[in-house]
Amino acid sequence: MRLAAAVIVGALAACGARPPAASAPAPPPIAPIARGPGTVIEPEPQRPGDAARGWALLTGSDYVGCGAPRALWERFAGVTPAWLRLPGRSGAGAELPYAMNAVTTADGRARVTPSCLACHASFLRGQLVIGLGDPRADFTGDPGALALAGLLITDDVDRADWDRLYGRFALIAPAIRTTTVGANPADHIAAALFAHRDPATLAWSDEPRLPLPGPPVPVDVPAWWLLKKKAAMFHTGAGRGDQARIMMTASVLCVDDVATARAIDAGFPDVRAYVTSLTPPPFPAPIDAPAAARGRAVFTARCARCHGSYGADGAYQTRVISVAEVGTDPAVAERTGQFAAPYVAWFNASFYGERARLAPGDGYVAPPLDGVWATAPYLHNGSVPTLAALLDSRLRQPRFGIGRGDDDYDLGLVGWRSFDPDQPGVAPAWIWDTARPGHGNQGHTFGDALTPPDRAALLEYLKSL
Ligand code: HEC
Ligand code: HEC
Repeated sequence: MRLAAAVIVGALAACGARPPAASAPAPPPIAPIARGPGTVIEPEPQRPGDAARGWALLTGSDYVGCGAPRALWERFAGVTPAWLRLPGRSGAGAELPYAMNAVTTADGRARVTPSCLACHASFLRGQLVIGLGDPRADFTGDPGALALAGLLITDDVDRADWDRLYGRFALIAPAIRTTTVGANPADHIAAALFAHRDPATLAWSDEPRLPLPGPPVPVDVPAWWLLKKKAAMFHTGAGRGDQARIMMTASVLCVDDVATARAIDAGFPDVRAYVTSLTPPPFPAPIDAPAAARGRAVFTARCARCHGSYGADGAYQTRVISVAEVGTDPAVAERTGQFAAPYVAWFNASFYGERARLAPGDGYVAPPLDGVWATAPYLHNGSVPTLAALLDSRLRQPRFGIGRGDDDYDLGLVGWRSFDPDQPGVAPAWIWDTARPGHGNQGHTFGDALTPPDRAALLEYLKSL
């Protein structure tokens, strides 16, 4: 009896409702969104910041802590073409690719360092979109190969810096090298770097203190413009507490002491302010308004209980939906990369855990769908190339070639065109094979039962978000 009551109270709490007191007036009607499934994650306080300062830090400062001597890098890379530069960037970084920052070390050396935009900016139909996850980033190569280029460096200080950047990547290579282009190993990079550090002092040791994680499973990079709605970071909703502190885990690569990390952290509320100031690009073609209006009704009936509602009176809550309910590939929810127990414990006991924590649940967040037209491929692992296939699981193929050229973004199917994987000359890394671990494209079949006209209307509505 006690148990039954506890279960009922628990269920009510999970719905965000409270049992009314005996004499209370009738409760106000519950908005549809409050009756959704899953576990709702409540927002937590965030440090305020300045978006303009955040942009300057993001694109002009050294939060990674190591890099390559600029002269050497220029010898390899040559002159950066205009289309690859960051529009509007002035100063020392003006002539670098958009995903590299120019920094000057304390002893006056010119360095280039990778930035967050390496994964969090992307070309879409020929335009660089800041905040769009890069679905073409290629982590299939051997990160150890670049370490060897350090042999060309004669200056000892420059050489040590190069070794810190690429030598460390070489040490963790087996834990971060992917099989498929576009599969992002960031969660494994974080875990492998945690493994080499003392959580309290952040001191690095070449010998790992924890076992390295196994080979990575694919993770798709979420669009930054969604963060303003989310109460937790990451597909699993595991990133809780102060988001600025979680974002700066990029510095876990080469920042080897707490004082330096604290100085970087002081600027990251500004970076977060920049990230949460972003808005999605509008759909770049006409939308059939009557169809979209019909689609909106379908969305309200079938999708809003998990994904929230949109428009002027829209409302969104961060809900973690169990794998049993959503049915998508379970690997990431089963705690791969930084979400596995030893790394969660490391994070929570570390400098990063002072203000934030990793708390993996048992499923995936039903994400906000603003600008969803631009964010293919879909699902947490990027296994579904188009919205059309996301809404109809019968269109998903077990193996397909990934089209990722500027002309491959299809505004009708909404997403990346696929091609025949068995035609001659297709490298295995360009084939999405659902038999590879973590690559499954099953589940999320909520669109399957729709009539074709309803599904088409829903697709039209999704273009408008
Ligand atoms: C190597 C690629 C890579 C780099 C570099 C990188 N990120 Fe990410 N980022 C990811 C991936 C992949 C995820 C999703 C991980 C997950 O959900 O499990 C992510 C997630 C995030 C999220 C959470 C988004 C959400 O909606 O949950 C934020 C915010 C973020 N990154 C900010 C940053 C910032 C700021 C930097 C630089 C300091 C950075 N990232 C560097 C790949 C990267
Ligand atoms: C029971 C809750 C639930 C319902 C109902 C639901 N979804 Fe989802 N949806 C999710 C979850 C959870 C994910 C993330 C799954 C993953 O990444 O593995 C998701 C992912 C998505 C994505 C991919 C987003 C991205 O950027 O990758 C789209 C698009 C989407 N849903 C649209 C819809 C539409 C349209 C409907 C209505 C037909 C719908 N969903 C119904 C829970 C739901």
